[in-house]
Amino acid sequence: MSAAYIVTGTTRGIGQALAEEIALRGHMLFCISRAPEMQTGGRRNYMCDLRDPGETSKVMSRLMNDVPHASCSDVVLVNNAGTLAPIGFLENHTPVQMSDPMQVNLMAPAVLISSFIRESDRWGASRRIINITSGAALHPYAGWSLYCAAKAALNMLTRCAALEQEIRPNGVSICAVAPGVVNTGMQALIREAKDTDFPARARFLKMRQEGRLAEPAKVAALILDLDAGGKFQPGGIYDLRRVEWKEGKPHIEAMVI
Ligand SMILES: NC(=O)c1ccc[n+]([C@@H]2O[C@H](COP(=O)([O-])OP(=O)(O)OC[C@H]3O[C@@H](n4cnc5c(N)ncnc54)[C@H](OP(=O)(O)O)[C@@H]3O)[C@@H](O)[C@H]2O)c1
Repeated sequence: MSAAYIVTGTTRGIGQALAEEIALRGHMLFCISRAPEMQTGGRRNYMCDLRDPGETSKVMSRLMNDVPHASCSDVVLVNNAGTLAPIGFLENHTPVQMSDPMQVNLMAPAVLISSFIRESDRWGASRRIINITSGAALHPYAGWSLYCAAKAALNMLTRCAALEQEIRPNGVSICAVAPGVVNTGMQALIREAKDTDFPARARFLKMRQEGRLAEPAKVAALILDLDAGGKFQPGGIYDLRRVEWKEGKPHIEAMVI
């Protein structure tokens, strides 16, 4: 029996690191990204722009149909894709600019969670969902209003969906994990922002200068280890900066459960 992982946003950053680590561990990998469709060995990519909920739903149905669930011990969906754009004060955004981060950070995970739960209902595998959230879900930043709002809503979506699954036999385990401050394109975007659009920019420049950014490969391995070790409880909201090591193994307490 093998494990199958479905990961969104695998073209770069944490998603790419997750994909590489999952492949390295010999698991099956189903990616959803804006890269062209491809299949090599145990890895497939399904092309999708997550701003479009209709397309997202169709792509996920096709993907779920391709998962060889009868031979899977575990099937895990990682809602990783995210966008911080547009950075800036609300009065400077167009309606379309405001819609994109809500679609990618909130609606796409909602659509994918819904489809995953429904379409894997009769599968015998252990079914789990990890939503990649952010510390910004709990901490407000001027200039990130839509990102903060979407991630806060993603946390609550996680908690409500987990409650719904609690009363189901063989329900899906759903949690959210904030990865900390990670050395990806998203951080580069933050450092490149204008101070007028993002007044806290200097704090992020300093963190980079002081070498305090986590590397995506380490973050990816940690998420997979914690999940495989059964450390994520249903409905739990986790922050990877709170990981403690005991006898070489990672442990984490939920911030909210
Ligand atoms: N880096 C951090 O410090 C940090 C901190 C807290 C939380 N996070 C969260 O961690 C997750 C990964 O972030 P990251 O730092 O790896 O970001 P990143 O380097 O900017 O990568 C974002 C990924 O999401 C994909 N994506 C964005 N919009 C999409 C769309 N419309 N359709 C399909 N894919 C789309 C991107 O694909 P394209 O290449 O096609 O654009 C890319 O693969 C996000 O949920 C983010 O909110 C990151």
